[in-house]
Amino acid sequence: MRIIEVKDYQQMSNRAAEFIIEKVVQNPSIKLGLATGGTPIGTYKSLIEDHKMNGTSYQKVTTFNLDEYMGLSGDNKNSYRYFMNNQLFNYIDMNKAKSNIPSGIAADFQEECDRYEDLIAKHGGVDLQILGIGSNGHIGFNEPGTSFDSKTHIVKLAPSTIQANARFFNRIEEVPTKAITMGIATIMKSKEILLLVSGEKKKEALFRLLNGEINESFPASVLKNHPCVTIIADKAAIADIKVHYSEKVPM
Ligand code: F6R
Repeated sequence: MRIIEVKDYQQMSNRAAEFIIEKVVQNPSIKLGLATGGTPIGTYKSLIEDHKMNGTSYQKVTTFNLDEYMGLSGDNKNSYRYFMNNQLFNYIDMNKAKSNIPSGIAADFQEECDRYEDLIAKHGGVDLQILGIGSNGHIGFNEPGTSFDSKTHIVKLAPSTIQANARFFNRIEEVPTKAITMGIATIMKSKEILLLVSGEKKKEALFRLLNGEINESFPASVLKNHPCVTIIADKAAIADIKVHYSEKVPM
């Protein structure tokens, strides 16, 4: 794993955007895997700024989001479709028909999971997957205990995840308890992975990822089995963890 340490959230966002832009310029038809949540918002802002200033084009890009809440339609403000449109897609020249997110209101959710998994495969897989990490080590909505062989599937969210995500809702009772997520095996099929980690709340998870065993009780640990992972972590998250940096951005 390549580890890049940066000063803070802003620097993480800028560095991550640079990383993504370089790949999009190299391969304008790239298949990007995208995440939601608080972590990538700054990165998406930087992508939008770059698009406005330098005209980086996303017209040919295809995207696959990691997950979607079950029960929320795309026009619900808390759905991940709404999040993606409003944090990124509406402000770049993205062809939204090429943006894919599991449907939160499918008539048959198991069928929707299978359709999504097949769709990714039909496109030749994800070239670069962006990930955040839950404080319990989840990636996508793959909570501790999820099989490393899992494909896109339905999950029951862990109480800690519901608690963490309640900040985006008016009341914790409004947070859906189930979601559709790419599985661990789906994520691991991506050719390259970029994991973003910011803030003290993620320190323990990052420590465990870098120093712990590879184990299904800590889903992110599977990333150590992937041949091409870059982690961009800020000082608050990486603090006194002893690692060999591949790059330390001057602070
Ligand atoms: C988001 C996702 C989750 C988040 C994780 C961290 O699509 O799949 O795994 O990346 O919960 O969330 P934040 O960034 O809000 O701390």
